[in-house]
Amino acid sequence: MTLPTYVRLIEVGPRDGLQNEAQPISVADKVQLVDALTDAGLGYIEVGSFVSPKWVPQMAGSAEVFAQIQRKPGVVYGALAPNMRGFEDAVAAGVKEVAVFAAASEAFSQRNINCSISESLARFVPIIEAAQQHGISVRGYVSCVLGCPYEGQVSAQQVAQVAKELYAMGCYEVSLGDTIGTGTPTATRAMFEAVTAYVPREKLAGHFHDTYGQALVNIYASLQEGIAVFDSSIAGLGGCPYAKGASGNVATEDVLYMLNGMGIETGIDMDKLLLAGEHICNVLGRVTGSRVAKARQG
Ligand code: HMG
Ligand code: MG
Repeated sequence: MTLPTYVRLIEVGPRDGLQNEAQPISVADKVQLVDALTDAGLGYIEVGSFVSPKWVPQMAGSAEVFAQIQRKPGVVYGALAPNMRGFEDAVAAGVKEVAVFAAASEAFSQRNINCSISESLARFVPIIEAAQQHGISVRGYVSCVLGCPYEGQVSAQQVAQVAKELYAMGCYEVSLGDTIGTGTPTATRAMFEAVTAYVPREKLAGHFHDTYGQALVNIYASLQEGIAVFDSSIAGLGGCPYAKGASGNVATEDVLYMLNGMGIETGIDMDKLLLAGEHICNVLGRVTGSRVAKARQG
């Protein structure tokens, strides 16, 4: 298959990245990060989550962050909403696009959102109906598509069934998450082949955590399957609070470097992106997870 000529990068650092930071991060610092990412040319930024603050304390200020960011026309500022309560809070905060999140593994579903896979899917139906009435688009996530921290192996057919349901109920795009980063290219391609039997490839995205250093090769394998949307996180921030040992998403800087080298367009400015990454790492007092940023720092 010919490789895509344009890739859409979904910046999940402010949500998937920061949700896992133990130290408090001020609303002002989160706003500064989102604004810097907007300035770098990202077309989609996942700003926060409307989840229980008891479950994920770091996302508690998401409504304030939404109130203070500078929204650039044409850029999508999304948020996670696990249930109707979260959806209503998101709408009240002026969110125009939400994401619902399911898992391909029962154990992970229970640990992450305290219900079974089928209960979670049933919960999403009224959210998507209400979203349609408000003119809000809904993205869907499937976690643990290449392995589960509790169950180990996850079958590609199970991933395909959950993705199929999310797509059928109205998610305009389904992001397939290697939550614990254990996948390798062969498994990645097999997983996409199973899912594309039910969901068109142009409606799918890849979401790779880099825990085992496999994220970029898995993105390359996905490109070979015709996938042209990838989630990534500035400076490789993050992990998942309900997936022990999960490290950050693949760093946006590193994905951009690879795509630039391959002549694949994204509309993102590398220098501005590096500045955004450097700034948030200074705020957090942590070393960047981006290899490109490290190389540029010398
Ligand atoms: P629950 O305890 O079953 O919910 O949690 P409940 O309905 O029984 O409510 C319990 C309490 O939570 C009540 O408060 C509710 O009001 C409150 P109390 O009466 O005890 O004071 N509550 C809420 N508060 C704020 N916002 C809400 C909300 N809903 C209920 N929306 C629930 C169920 C889904 C709420 C909980 O499990 C939860 O919030 N989970 C979120 C987990 C999460 O955010 N995980 C990280 C994101 S997923 C991820 O990172 C994977 C991804 O990146 C892809 C990949 O890498 O694979 C997307
Ligand atoms: Mg994730």
